[in-house]
Amino acid sequence: DGTWSLYHSVGVMYSVPTEHRLHSGYAHPLTRSWQEGNVDIDPKKLMLPVFVTDVEDAIEDIDSLPDVKRYGVATLPGVLKDLMSKGLKSVLLFGVLNRIPKDESGSGADGEGSPVVAAIRVLRDKLPDLLVACDVCLCAYTSTGHCGLLNSDGQHDNAASVKRMAAQALVYARAGAHIVAPSSMSDGIVGAIKKELVSAKLDGRVAVLSYAVKFASSCFYGPFRSAAQSAPKGVTISREGYQLPVGSRGLAHRAAARDVEEGADMLMVKPGMAYLDIVRETKDRFPNHPLFIYQVSGEYSMLFHGAENGAFDLEDAVMETFKCMRRAGADVIISYFTPLVLELLNNHRMIEKLGTNHSS
Ligand code: PBG
Repeated sequence: DGTWSLYHSVGVMYSVPTEHRLHSGYAHPLTRSWQEGNVDIDPKKLMLPVFVTDVEDAIEDIDSLPDVKRYGVATLPGVLKDLMSKGLKSVLLFGVLNRIPKDESGSGADGEGSPVVAAIRVLRDKLPDLLVACDVCLCAYTSTGHCGLLNSDGQHDNAASVKRMAAQALVYARAGAHIVAPSSMSDGIVGAIKKELVSAKLDGRVAVLSYAVKFASSCFYGPFRSAAQSAPKGVTISREGYQLPVGSRGLAHRAAARDVEEGADMLMVKPGMAYLDIVRETKDRFPNHPLFIYQVSGEYSMLFHGAENGAFDLEDAVMETFKCMRRAGADVIISYFTPLVLELLNNHRMIEKLGTNHSS
């Protein structure tokens, strides 16, 4: 009768005309948009990573990340206020030390003069509607450049690192952070932070966003490491003892399961574009946890320089990657392109274009 049947892998039967036609189903811009799932890009689902230095009035260019800057606590609020007028809702803070010396325990992270603590206070005071999340890690503050503390053999000392970073998270929480985001991949860090928050009676106000599935991407994190000055000069740091092997899937699932078990409120996969299979699998396994994806520094540079060199249009490329990250299952996108995307979303022409991309 001109139709034939096939069974989908889950056992649903489809009847498909022998000469089946698909183009009719997306011929109109509106029907095209109906063929997509919820891949809307909403300012509420975007988070901007921000580098804050201990030089108050700084506005510094970052060679490795064109158009991204490091700010001091005096210059940051104005810049973010402007972005908020375009829809910015949340930031992720990273501290950078220019003046305070680095030491073995990374005391610049949360001690006297900590740029992150100062930034949390000033942002909560001046921009009360902005959600403030903070990276919790030591790599930008330790003289070794490692994400945690080392034992006498020079290996990651997990127990000591967890204790140190749980204390760091508590300082940020007390200063007013809404979200603390441990990024060191230490075993037990999420549970330890939760415990601190509960004892300080801050658990009702402060959430834990776990960088649960963070791969040891020495290449895609490269520009960040110079932006955050988190790799000592001339030293190549291997974080493979704690970050995941890039080809791992089973271990990635176990890492997410570990952090869910320890009470993570939200999960993250990082880097983004090359890891979309892991994003989908993590979302499928933990559909009830908001899932973040971090489009990291190397991805930013790759797109930026690709466009600079005429390979493609930057705006089109960025919007395509954002849509694909949403399709893969990411609820929230952390990206240095957030200002550009907010600009585009504010631009009516672009909103139209989003719905009608490539329509003929
Ligand atoms: C700190 C941290 C890193 C990034 C976010 N948090 C660097 C690293 O693990 O080496 C990378 C972000 C980026 O590349 O944009 N542990």
